Amino acid sequence: MGSVILLASGKGGCGKTTMAVNLGHVLASQGFKTLLLDLNIGLRNLDIYMGLQDNVLFDLGDYLTGTCKLSKALVQDEKQENLSILSSPQLRGIKGLTQTHIKVLCDHLKKYFDYIIIDSPTGISAELTNAAAGADMALIVLTQDYEALRNAETVDKKLEALGIRERYYAVNKIYPQLLESEALPGLQTIAQTMRSPLAGLIAYDLNIHIGNNMGIPVVRSGETTITKAFEDIADRLTK
Ligand SMILES: Nc1ncnc2c1ncn2[C@@H]1O[C@H](COP(=O)(O)OP(=O)(O)O)[C@@H](O)[C@H]1O
Ligand SMILES: [Mg+2]
Repeated sequence: MGSVILLASGKGGCGKTTMAVNLGHVLASQGFKTLLLDLNIGLRNLDIYMGLQDNVLFDLGDYLTGTCKLSKALVQDEKQENLSILSSPQLRGIKGLTQTHIKVLCDHLKKYFDYIIIDSPTGISAELTNAAAGADMALIVLTQDYEALRNAETVDKKLEALGIRERYYAVNKIYPQLLESEALPGLQTIAQTMRSPLAGLIAYDLNIHIGNNMGIPVVRSGETTITKAFEDIADRLTK
């Protein structure tokens, strides 16, 4: 049986989708059958970060409404055979979607995948509650800002209230020259604010941003410091 990892953040743009595609690649390259499930319904972009936007013919909405079989909605990565994505619909919703649908979906997907990483919508809306329904653990992504920290703390509490006991956080887009700055919340302040343990740190790096735009997740470019940082987070979540 596989495990479901929910990626969440209170503030948008912290790096949930970036984290999803890179952690997915790391786990798949370690031999785990991995699925990236995009639950940004109507606003998906994970397919772009993966460079698979032209390969998505059917999505989760098509599967749940019986328009296609699950196998048609799953899109395998072109280079990494252990990695697939299941996209949410673009420009439209999924009428009547409930927590039960997501829970049943995740339990079904766990039979076929070792890890299912859910790229969830920003915030603490009902859409997050739906996305969390099938999750075994969560990774909250924040940046080193007071506003992102406050919102991450809220998400941490929300996920705890939803019954997700195994939670971690990762700090993304760190500027090394500002790490010790008194203007920003330090790592100690962040640790004292969050109710969950630290899974890892990712620096602000233009290669990550360029990789997302080119549809080539940065960890694909081989053994670099950035790849190691994503591998450390994957280890923390899975070992
Ligand atoms: N560590 C990073 N360094 C540089 N740019 C990043 C980094 N992480 C994310 N980005 C960029 O920040 C933006 C938001 O990231 P994204 O993963 O889409 O966030 P979210 O899914 O939480 O909204 C994107 O343009 C992405 O390319
Ligand atoms: Mg996103």
